[in-house]
Amino acid sequence: MNTPNLDFGQMAEEITERISRFLPAVEGYQRNLGEAMTYSVMNGGKRVRPMLLLLTYRALGGSPEEETSLVDPFLAAIEMIHSYSLVHDDLPAMDNDRFRRGKLTTHAKYGHAMGILAGDGLQNEAFETALSAEETEQTRGRVLPALRVIALRSGLFGMVGGQSVDVEKTGEPMTAEELDFVYRLKTGALLQAAMQAGAILAGADRETVDVMGEIALKVGLAFQIQDDILDIASTTETLGKPVGSDEKNHKTTYVTLYGMRASKEAVESLSDEALALLSNYPGGQRGEPLAEMIASLVGRIK
Ligand code: IPE
Ligand code: IPE
Ligand code: MG
Ligand code: MG
Ligand code: MG
Repeated sequence: MNTPNLDFGQMAEEITERISRFLPAVEGYQRNLGEAMTYSVMNGGKRVRPMLLLLTYRALGGSPEEETSLVDPFLAAIEMIHSYSLVHDDLPAMDNDRFRRGKLTTHAKYGHAMGILAGDGLQNEAFETALSAEETEQTRGRVLPALRVIALRSGLFGMVGGQSVDVEKTGEPMTAEELDFVYRLKTGALLQAAMQAGAILAGADRETVDVMGEIALKVGLAFQIQDDILDIASTTETLGKPVGSDEKNHKTTYVTLYGMRASKEAVESLSDEALALLSNYPGGQRGEPLAEMIASLVGRIK
């Protein structure tokens, strides 16, 4: 597991290609909005959430024949929701950042109003896209539950709920409990949506879907703590987004609360816990790419 067999960069490119087939037409009087929405998705990005969705689907025995018609719309949908969350996160009313994925943020390029609307548009596009997924006799009844988990984990009791507390607490100290709440929701929830949707589309039973949620939560917490570390320890060039954003906004982060060393340890131990849970899982060789990907996130530099 220490020697990577998979080229995640290449996989991200493949996923980007698969996602690009679902982008909206850029036409009509609203063509600027269509362009801003496309820009917000096609501006790079590691594609972590669609990759987790796809690798979970494969690990749990999802059939390869169904990937194009059943899974691809969900890869696009989860990345559209994630991209919209970033577009809104960067707005002046939130983190007020001008660079993302190495390019101008959507509002910096298209204006504030178009930043808001591009996010709104992508959210709707995500649901429309996921609903275009096709079921067969074998996969009947999987699309709606997969979409339901994405809807729940994106909203008030998921990503958006976490973002609301994140901005409300900006500039004031947060307790450990509050910070944990924010990380579970603002970041953990979409990773849970990704892995659980992948599990549901593969036809996994309820218990397996629950365990995938537990694993994804640990991966999500590790992912956000690593994001906080990189906000301090990386460079804007490598990250493609401004370092020091958290300090600029006087955010409480895992690093301000516990220090750099404890933060690095937390990333490793959360990731180990996620991998331990995953290893209880039958999946054999099919599960290796998923484990490998989760393990690789610990050392990510962007
Ligand atoms: C950034 O997510 C926001 C967080 C939840 C930490 P990513 O690090 O996945 O951003 P992209 O999609 O690769 O740009
Ligand atoms: C954002 O957290 C998480 C989202 C749900 C968008 P951050 O504000 O730390 O993400 P970055 O660092 O801007 O990508
Ligand atoms: Mg933020
Ligand atoms: Mg931000
Ligand atoms: Mg950050």
